[in-house]
Amino acid sequence: MVKRADLKRDRFYKRAKEEGFRSRSAFKLLQIEDKYDVIKEGDVVVDLGAAPGGWSQVAKELVGEKGVVISVDLQHIKKLEGVESIKGDITSEEETVSAIREKLFSERKDSVDVVLSDVSPKLSGNRDYDHFCSFELSKSALNIASALLRKNGNFVVKIFQGAYYNKFYGGVKEKFRHTRAYSPEASRKRSAEVFVIGKEYYGE
Ligand SMILES: C[S@@+](CC[C@H](N)C(=O)[O-])C[C@H]1O[C@@H](n2cnc3c(N)ncnc32)[C@H](O)[C@@H]1O
Repeated sequence: MVKRADLKRDRFYKRAKEEGFRSRSAFKLLQIEDKYDVIKEGDVVVDLGAAPGGWSQVAKELVGEKGVVISVDLQHIKKLEGVESIKGDITSEEETVSAIREKLFSERKDSVDVVLSDVSPKLSGNRDYDHFCSFELSKSALNIASALLRKNGNFVVKIFQGAYYNKFYGGVKEKFRHTRAYSPEASRKRSAEVFVIGKEYYGE
């Protein structure tokens, strides 16, 4: 749990408020995008673990009018202009994929260019346990990405570092031509989170 005093000191939190983003996490995606160029104008983007909606706001700005953003979270996401949202559990992978396909159909789109996942488990404070839950969630995100992405599509996924990290990284590496790990400056210093970026999906 972050102390209020830390929040006040947190410059990304302050900037997020000033710039109208719903979360400080928005800056993490901006930094990932700056370095790896994952989202293009006109893209169809699926944002997993999207509430309250900071990443979806950034994604919508990047894809512009012709692009589509579909957001999924266990929690309700307050309406965002130009973003379609689904209340659902990403560990119910088949159900989530079908719900996303229905949204794609109603938007007259047939493939997904980018899958993002900033999904986090509820933190217990036990680093190993939290890592394992994050590993399981990230695996679901990878399975959903594999079901939906077009050939050469891109993937960004958060995972907490720990014993299964290398196994997960290897799983992404098998499916994408270029794989990198990145800790944006906007991630808190004490955080175990790292983002794995997979570019150019080989396809099924
Ligand atoms: C760090 S927050 C995401 C912040 C978001 N990227 C933003 O910029 O506003 C992590 C989210 O993962 C969601 N989450 C956790 N487990 C989930 C699951 N099984 N299915 C869907 N969402 C999940 C949580 O509800 C939470 O909203």
